[in-house]
Amino acid sequence: MKASSAAKRGSAWSAAIDATAVLGALPDPVLVVDADGTFIYANAAAEQFFDTSAIGLLGTLLSELLPPDSPVFALIDTVRSSGHSVSEYGVTLETPRLGAHVMTVQAAPIAENRAEVVVTLQERSIAHKIDRQLTHRNAARSVTAMAAMLAHEVKNPLSGIRGAAQLLEESVGPGDRELTRLICDESDRICALVDRMEVFSDQRPIERGPVNIHEVLERVRLVAQTGFARHVRFVEEYDPSLPPVHGNRDLLIQVFLNLVKNAAEAVPAQGGEIQITSGYQHGVRLAVAGSDSRVHLPLVISIIDNGEGIPDELAQHLFDPFVTTKHNGTGLGLALVAKVIGDHGGVIEFDSQPRRTAFRVCLPMAPRGVST
Ligand SMILES: Nc1ncnc2c1ncn2[C@@H]1O[C@H](COP(=O)(O)OP(=O)(O)OP(=O)(O)O)[C@@H](O)[C@H]1O
Ligand SMILES: [Mg+2]
Repeated sequence: MKASSAAKRGSAWSAAIDATAVLGALPDPVLVVDADGTFIYANAAAEQFFDTSAIGLLGTLLSELLPPDSPVFALIDTVRSSGHSVSEYGVTLETPRLGAHVMTVQAAPIAENRAEVVVTLQERSIAHKIDRQLTHRNAARSVTAMAAMLAHEVKNPLSGIRGAAQLLEESVGPGDRELTRLICDESDRICALVDRMEVFSDQRPIERGPVNIHEVLERVRLVAQTGFARHVRFVEEYDPSLPPVHGNRDLLIQVFLNLVKNAAEAVPAQGGEIQITSGYQHGVRLAVAGSDSRVHLPLVISIIDNGEGIPDELAQHLFDPFVTTKHNGTGLGLALVAKVIGDHGGVIEFDSQPRRTAFRVCLPMAPRGVST
């Protein structure tokens, strides 16, 4: 009974909905090229994009519309040789006819062992997200100069103030000693803050090697669960086959500690849950700002919490230094995370709704042939 009703539903679907109509209704250009790179399909959005009718496009070579060095061709070749779908962010498609468009290009094989490739182009969404993360990198950079200045201008006089207070402590009565203690404690607090900022002024390239990210995440969970996240339930979903990250273990621990700490501070007092997941994503490459090269960032680690989410007005500035909604917060946690992930050539992005806030970190893989 069940099988036949499912079959009926299947046939009802195919009769009612024509796949070509669906593709035609999509707002993003979709096109298919054959083994020679000739158009064999273009939806309405693709007609508009190339400013040519479908009839005009059919039989036309894609290379007649895009310059020969366009990354789209390399992408199509990769799909043919790997048999996988591939996507690339931040590809600039530019011809005299099209003008310049920064797009996300996705290409996929139509069927196994066939040379036809379907290509979709998206102008907004993901490209937009990447834009956001590039501003995060700028934010991290702007704090660099300030950190260097603070370390220099604040720490030296501060040690003088602290020394003077200590000297005074010996000669004042017990009532005033409380005040000299206060000066010392507050000086120490400012000093610790400046120390935290000093990470930002470190411009040296980081030392990197193959890092087992699950070992890093386990360590972070352990530290969290025995300390600040005692009240939280942890759910781990790791892909055990994940290859090592090309990274710095200590810095990565710092990154994920900051993300897990924020998550633990966001979850409700009762029923708080933090999910940590790891996975491999095929074919996501990111254009490196200011150069032609592209990095492959296949390792994705997500920290997801069930807190109230990030207020809209904060989202734009989340990775800027000193942005905080917390009583005792410094607002340096995410600025530091952005700096370290940037130094790794990685990407961080977030997506927040009430009861589900996810921070996704994409990192490069360690070169093959080295083991952890
Ligand atoms: N998982 C999250 N859920 C909701 N809001 C978040 C989350 N993570 C960060 N935020 C918001 O972003 C702000 C900045 O975070 P960041 O880690 O940079 O600083 P902080 O946590 O306030 O201070 P510090 O890290 O120094 O303790 C937080 O104050 C909080 O408002
Ligand atoms: Mg924080």
